[in-house]
Amino acid sequence: MNLDGKRILLTGASGGIGEALALALAERGAHLLLHGRQPLALERLRLQLPAPERHHTLCADLRSAEGRLALIHHPALESGVDILINNAGTNHFAWLEDQSEEQIASQLELNTLAPLLLTRALLPRLTRPGLIMNVGSSFGGIGYPGYSVYCASKFAIRGFSEALGRELAGSGIKVLHFAPRATRTHLNAPEVYAMNAELGTHTDTPEEVADQLVQSLERERTRTWVGWPEKLFVRLNALLPGLVDRALARQHAVIARFAHHKEA
Ligand SMILES: NC(=O)c1ccc[n+]([C@@H]2O[C@H](COP(=O)([O-])OP(=O)(O)OC[C@H]3O[C@@H](n4cnc5c(N)ncnc54)[C@H](OP(=O)(O)O)[C@@H]3O)[C@@H](O)[C@H]2O)c1
Repeated sequence: MNLDGKRILLTGASGGIGEALALALAERGAHLLLHGRQPLALERLRLQLPAPERHHTLCADLRSAEGRLALIHHPALESGVDILINNAGTNHFAWLEDQSEEQIASQLELNTLAPLLLTRALLPRLTRPGLIMNVGSSFGGIGYPGYSVYCASKFAIRGFSEALGRELAGSGIKVLHFAPRATRTHLNAPEVYAMNAELGTHTDTPEEVADQLVQSLERERTRTWVGWPEKLFVRLNALLPGLVDRALARQHAVIARFAHHKEA
């Protein structure tokens, strides 16, 4: 899809990937509704974009029904939306037994329930042709120790994207799933960066991820896994999960140490 003049709702625009994405989309002539939770950060971002008067901002906690309603009823969406990008997300790196109920609920509510409900509410206002882009993760294709809840939320959004895409076949609306690997943003705690460095896991910049996401939108790619070897591991995990079990078992002690798990 040519992005020039397209009306795009971008959730999580105040985050690392969202901010880079907002810039890349605005440079292509898109009209953005930028969502986040920090009014000053969002307004600063809007003013940095080409043609700031074309863009709007809205603050809302998407874990609450009120927050989602505020977004759904924003005047900028009244006449329709061409692209919905479900990007807002959160994670908590810890063994399952070390996570509170609140931490578990928060990840599932923001990463899974909110995009499902936003998508359902906005479907009648999506133009045809229109695009829904769900930002998943390589942890939506590989179960990783310390990320059991995050993986549950991202496996779910991948299943949702695939099923809804098939449900909407022929409607003019396409559902795209885009899965970044580790990316340098505030999402990841310092111990995650330290662990990735020790394990030799590559980390992308938000700008690299935003570039690839924009290409996926322009080419309307249904499934994008960012980066080697993650792309390969996702396929390997689907075909020969026992191999990945063994590879991750070898990293178990290191991962447990960075997750500050008491038995490590
Ligand atoms: N960074 C990675 O390593 C990585 C890897 C794979 C996939 N991803 C996915 O990429 C997406 C963007 O992540 P990021 O790395 O850019 O994260 P980030 O820098 O932490 O930004 C997260 C965004 O989500 C918003 N947000 C957080 N809690 C919210 C809530 N309760 N209600 C509404 N908005 C909320 C934040 O708004 P405020 O800042 O205003 O709170 C921010 O705009 C997420 O879906 C994430 O799972 C990231």
